[in-house]
Formats: sequence, C-alpha cells, structure tokens
Amino acid sequence: MQPDTLAMDAAGYLSIAGIRVADLARRYGTPLYVFDLETLDRRLAAYRVPGLPVPVDVYYAGKAFLCTAMAGFLADRGVGLDAVSGGELFTALAGGLDAARIVFHGNVKTPLEITQAVEAGVGAVVVDSLDELGPLAQEARRQGRTVPVLVRVTPGIEAHTHAFIRTGQYDSKFGFALTGGLAEAAVQAVLAEPALRLIGLHSHIGSQILDLEPFVANVEVLMGFSRHLARRYGWWPQVLDVGGGLGVRYQPEDDPPPTAAVLEAMARAAVTGTPAGREPPRLAVEPGRSIVAEAGVTIYRIGAMKTVPGGRRYWAVDGGMGDNIRPALYQARYQALVDGRRGPPEETVTLAGRYCESGDILIQEARLPAAAVGDLVVVLGTGAYNYAMASNYNRVPRPAVVTVRNGTSRVWVEREGYSDLLRLDRPWEPW
Ligand SMILES: Cc1ncc(COP(=O)(O)O)c(C=O)c1O
Repeated sequence: MQPDTLAMDAAGYLSIAGIRVADLARRYGTPLYVFDLETLDRRLAAYRVPGLPVPVDVYYAGKAFLCTAMAGFLADRGVGLDAVSGGELFTALAGGLDAARIVFHGNVKTPLEITQAVEAGVGAVVVDSLDELGPLAQEARRQGRTVPVLVRVTPGIEAHTHAFIRTGQYDSKFGFALTGGLAEAAVQAVLAEPALRLIGLHSHIGSQILDLEPFVANVEVLMGFSRHLARRYGWWPQVLDVGGGLGVRYQPEDDPPPTAAVLEAMARAAVTGTPAGREPPRLAVEPGRSIVAEAGVTIYRIGAMKTVPGGRRYWAVDGGMGDNIRPALYQARYQALVDGRRGPPEETVTLAGRYCESGDILIQEARLPAAAVGDLVVVLGTGAYNYAMASNYNRVPRPAVVTVRNGTSRVWVEREGYSDLLRLDRPWEPW
C-alpha cells in the first residue's frame, strides 16, 4: 500500500527513505509525486525468481508511469519495456533502453509509429488488428528488415479483482478473439508474410487482479491455442507474453498473491501444456501497477475545510483529478495519512480536489486524525496511472516527480510552470 521506507515518528511526522515529507513539500512544493527507489527495486526484484521451469522476461508496462529517468532506471536494471505509443517508445529510447528489449503495442498504430518501431528495431511488435499487418509488412520491406511479431489474442478470460470467468467469447477492442477463428486468421496472415516473423502470442487479461487462478487460466488457454496451431500449421511459440495485471494493496483487504507464486504457477502451466517433442515457450510479463503503484505517493496540502450541515466534512487539497483521475474515472479507492497528526482517526472526511468538477473527489470516506488547513496529506499507492494520466485541466500545471533513496532526493520530472502552459499556444491573431 505504501513505500517500504515510509515511516511515522513518535510525533506523527512522516518520512520516506529517511526524508521528512514536510521537507520534501518545502523543497519541491505541493502537490508532489514522490517515488521511493528502494520500493521500486524490491518490486522489480520480486519478478526475478530463480529456478523457474521456464525463463520469464520482464517488460515493465510504461503506461503505468514513464519518464526519461524511469526508462534509464529500467535500462540500468536490465528490464525491458512494454511501450504502447510512439511517445512511450521515444521516451524509452531517450532514457537509454535497448530497443531490442521493447515490445511495441497499440490497438491503433499510426503510420509514423509503425515506422518508428521498425526503425528502432524493437524486440517485437504486438499485432492487434489485421489492418496494421499490411502497413507493418510494407514498412519492414521498405527498411529491409524482418520484424518479430506477437499476435495478441483475447482468450475469453475476464479477470476481476477476486473472480474470473471464462466467457468463451470476449468482446474487447484489443486483439483477436479466439472464438470465430479470428485469432487463427491473424496467425495465418502473419505466417504468410515473409517480412514478419511470428515468435509468439500475447494476451493481457485485466488489471488489479488479486488471484492467481486467472493468470494460470490465461497460460492454459494460450497453450491450448498453441497446440492447435502446432497441429494445424506446424508452428510453435518461442514466447508467450501474458501481459500484466497483478494487483496491489490499495486497501487493507486487498491481498494479492506473491509475485513469485504467480510466476511459478504460470511457468508450470507452460511446461504442462507443452506436447512431447516441443520446447516449452519462455514467458514474458508486462507488469505495470505491481512495480510502481506502492512505490509512489502524492503529497498534498490542505487548502480548505468545511462541514456541510447534515452533509459531509470536506478537506480540499491543492491537487486532485488533474494529478489523479482514477477515482473519478473508475472509482479507484485510496488510503491517506496526515503528516504530523498521530493518533486514532477522529474524523470521517471526504478528501476533495481543487478542480471544477463535483466528481473531483480523491477519497470519498477517509478516517483520519483531526487536521488543520495547511497540513500535509499523503495519498498512498499513487505510483501507477497517476502521473501517467495527469492533465492540465483548469490550466493547472502538473506536479513534479521526485525520487528518494537513503536520505537523498532527485527530481525525475520538473514541476510545470505557467510558461509551460503557454508553450504550445499561439497568440490570437484577428481573423
Ligand atoms: C497489454 C498490457 N500489458 C500490460 C499492462 C499493465 O497492466 P498492470 O499495470 O495492471 O500490470 C496493461 C494495462 O492495461 C496492458 O494493457
């Protein structure tokens, strides 16, 4: 739920990696995204499990949180990247990631993005529609390359946090359904194209998944489809990319399975599903949230408080949906702490943002110790899909991203200023 190094002292003052939250707020301003590098390292390390029956390659999902320094951090740790746009690819390369360790996604890939991906020499392009096959093959031929490809299938598994169903038919904008022969047709089309080399299959079953079984079921489905393809076309995958989706602890009751257990179970399923005479495919995973969510927090300052007679008690902070759209977008729930206020929860408050939407509520109901205007509130678990989804709504500049480790801090992304808001604007010209 929180960075591993987050601590509260006897007086209730919070620190991360040995740095007081109040000092971070003073130095860098609020709202402020803070990432604890130690936690990032530990979450990444959890994906390195020795002795698995098949190798598992990690491609961190850049959509969860990416900036140049994050790409550099991943490169430094030898981790690959799942990039889903030309912008993510550009950022990854700028940060020093090796293109061969990048898997390039997107249910719509623009001509420019296809050129970018082929030119960069990404490790694989994940094909999501028949419509991109022609342009991709054409670009590969134009550049005299053979592009490694994964075909993205929708396996008929709908994973929700604590349950999953095999729908048999999966209605999704992503990938090719296994039903109706759509995925098979895509495989045939790729196999028929000499400029493309089909190295494997891909499927991602959802996000914030708190159970192990759907991950295993996903591998089983992919293995079943692979056996069918082997019988029919003599083709066998080198790799099965099983996407991301492992959940984190946003709330005390969230209890995700250990990363190692998920990897072990999936690797076993890959071995079990391999017929005699074939090599089990290696696995690729694309974790986003489970790497970054708990490493990140957002520090806000309380700007206003009010109690509505017969209604709720509001604490309004200096950020909100511009830096964290998830509660408004899909009722995501968070926990918060108040800096310098130790003691049992005394108030039930609605933590509201500053943006001009009634739906700009960060936490609907938080039980917190009594606080005052000017106090700092730390919202936990904001490392994933917060900065990545941030906007300039209301012309509010986006916060800085700061990383901390062993008592020191570094800026990874500068705070935007008003001049950044005007950077792309053109002045009015009468017409
Ligand atoms: C194809 C794909 N891979 C990986 C991820 C990362 O998922 P998560 O952040 O839940 O691990 C996503 C998230 O939407 C995805 O669509």
